[in-house]
Amino acid sequence: MRLDRFLSNLPRFNRQEVRQLLTSGRVRVDSQVCRDSHSDVRVFSRVELDAEVLQAGKAARYFMLHKPPGVVSATEHPEHRTVLDLLDEPDTHDLHLAGRLDLNTSGLLLITNDGQWSRRVTAPTGKQPKVYLVDTEDPIDPACIEVFACGLYFRFEDLLTQPAELQILAPRQARLTLYEGRYHQVKRMFGHFQNKVVGLHRLSVGAIQLDDRLSPGQYRTLAAEEIAGFEIN
Ligand code: URA
Repeated sequence: MRLDRFLSNLPRFNRQEVRQLLTSGRVRVDSQVCRDSHSDVRVFSRVELDAEVLQAGKAARYFMLHKPPGVVSATEHPEHRTVLDLLDEPDTHDLHLAGRLDLNTSGLLLITNDGQWSRRVTAPTGKQPKVYLVDTEDPIDPACIEVFACGLYFRFEDLLTQPAELQILAPRQARLTLYEGRYHQVKRMFGHFQNKVVGLHRLSVGAIQLDDRLSPGQYRTLAAEEIAGFEIN
């Protein structure tokens, strides 16, 4: 919400008073004097007027989880354990997932209470690289490299996938970098070559790499620079 609207919503100030408060430099947002009426006030912002706290600001929370296979990427599920069940944190109902992984996929999953941040992480046009380690049932046809780089036609969505980079590491193992996140995308891409994905593990999203000190099921809070990679500068 705009700062001037936030202040006008308080019953004690009319619009003219709000303008005066702002020009006189009495309002601080996140500890900085703020005179810009268009400044964005979020639930996470701390807003002060002189020595008075108008809004304390909720704590923004960001986690990376090493998702194990067999745990659902959802906030609730009638049968399976969900990734939120793995977090020993208060108010997990306030958290949501910044992207999903299939039930049997493992690896990096981002969890937050900041909707603006998670929308940037998951934006289909965000072009943030997502890197996967893929194990397949049959040997990987080297023709995949060229086809994935050119884009594959997905009939259901009627689109051509973004150019993806495939690096074959072993006859049945590859590293795949995608710049989008379509439904079951990796499995469908290998499915085009009648090759079944038997193991899928996400290594990174944008600049955030899965911390190799985390065992499956473990998590940690994100560092400031990891969060900043998806913030508007
Ligand atoms: N592609 C898939 O097919 N599954 C995942 O979990 C992620 C990407």
